[in-house]
Amino acid sequence: MSDPYFQTLFAERIGGARYGKGSDIYKFEKIKRAKRQALAEHPERMLIDFGIGENDGMAPENVRRSMAEEIGKPENRGYADNGIPAFKEAAARFMQRHFGVTLDPVTEINHCIGSKPALAMVPACFINPGDVTLMTVPGYPVAGTHTRYYGGEVHRLPLLRENGFFPDLDGIPADAARRAKLLVLNYPNSPTGTVATREFYRRVVDFAHRHQVVVVQDAAHTILTFHEEPLSFLAVPGAKDVGIEIHSMSKGFDMIGWRIGWFCGHPLLVQALADVKDNSDSGQFIAIQKAAITALDDPTIPVRVREKYRRRLEKLVAMLRRCGFTCEMPGGSYFLYAPAPTGTADGHRFENAEAASQYLIHEHSIVTVPWDDAGPHLRFSVTYEAADERAEDALMAAAEERLRAIRPVF
Ligand SMILES: Cc1ncc(COP(=O)(O)O)c(C=O)c1O
Repeated sequence: MSDPYFQTLFAERIGGARYGKGSDIYKFEKIKRAKRQALAEHPERMLIDFGIGENDGMAPENVRRSMAEEIGKPENRGYADNGIPAFKEAAARFMQRHFGVTLDPVTEINHCIGSKPALAMVPACFINPGDVTLMTVPGYPVAGTHTRYYGGEVHRLPLLRENGFFPDLDGIPADAARRAKLLVLNYPNSPTGTVATREFYRRVVDFAHRHQVVVVQDAAHTILTFHEEPLSFLAVPGAKDVGIEIHSMSKGFDMIGWRIGWFCGHPLLVQALADVKDNSDSGQFIAIQKAAITALDDPTIPVRVREKYRRRLEKLVAMLRRCGFTCEMPGGSYFLYAPAPTGTADGHRFENAEAASQYLIHEHSIVTVPWDDAGPHLRFSVTYEAADERAEDALMAAAEERLRAIRPVF
């Protein structure tokens, strides 16, 4: 079949005339295909899915009830543009209550349709061709993808175990630091589960002043902080002078599909991002913003979500350690990031984490997500579906039986 006339019209940023013709398969698509194959070839074997990166729970009942009420009100029907003041005020109350951060809801907060679109829009505010975005890897790639769309470059900052999964800011080459306009961070970090320290954030503020970069801290997992109180970048002196923080209600409130979050920080940064947003979308449905206010004003929700994932992670860590993995309880997120096995006692060899992950899915119906960007690691998510603690324990027991039988070597 011949190409449609528009085959040659695709922009270079998505592959130009070669768009749609490549044979590279995206990592998550490869996992999906392997899962389908494992299910088809071994219908008798329960799939143990540690691969899902989405909350398994529905939004809390009071939030759904609030939504049901708001959806019927005529005043909620229209374009929301850059959001209703009441949502910003609720976000301000939340920032104060959880992080001790005081923000002006009028100028220092704006809603977004989840944090992903906000991360996608940040480069539009700053990146000209040749500019650099500094980004930690492994990580959530969206801001980097859009940096490249605008002709910018991404300088990757590897998160290594020996550095406590913090970027080596002093080791950034002079040229990259000179051309950098954005430093994108994400703590609690996905996938390593590391939480930031005040000391690290202080060094970030100092770095931002020294190299004149804007800091974008992705706080999508912030409520899932286990060993201490959750920390906002904006709680560190001087942070508001150099950056913004992007918050999401997806993870901490079981509201993944609702698409609601906010960005906050320096008023001029908030204004710039809100301007780009205003030229990109027309705001989240007002009924969703109002239901989100119910969620933000209920401090019991984050506690419940956090405790559930803490419990599941503790069980997972104990189980994996019994099977020979080296891992400890992460500081935050619902992910465990563990060094991948290099093989099995009966002679399988894995050249990287991806090979280990594919083996586990195909041969043992255990799904994980491989990361090879900064040393071979597997990400185990505890967002699997299990109706109660009994079901969680049964799933852990099944995973343990299979992993012990494999006898992984490291
Ligand atoms: C680190 C990180 N940031 C941002 C997001 C986007 O979250 P949302 O768009 O649902 O707010 C995700 C989602 O997986 C994530 O893991």
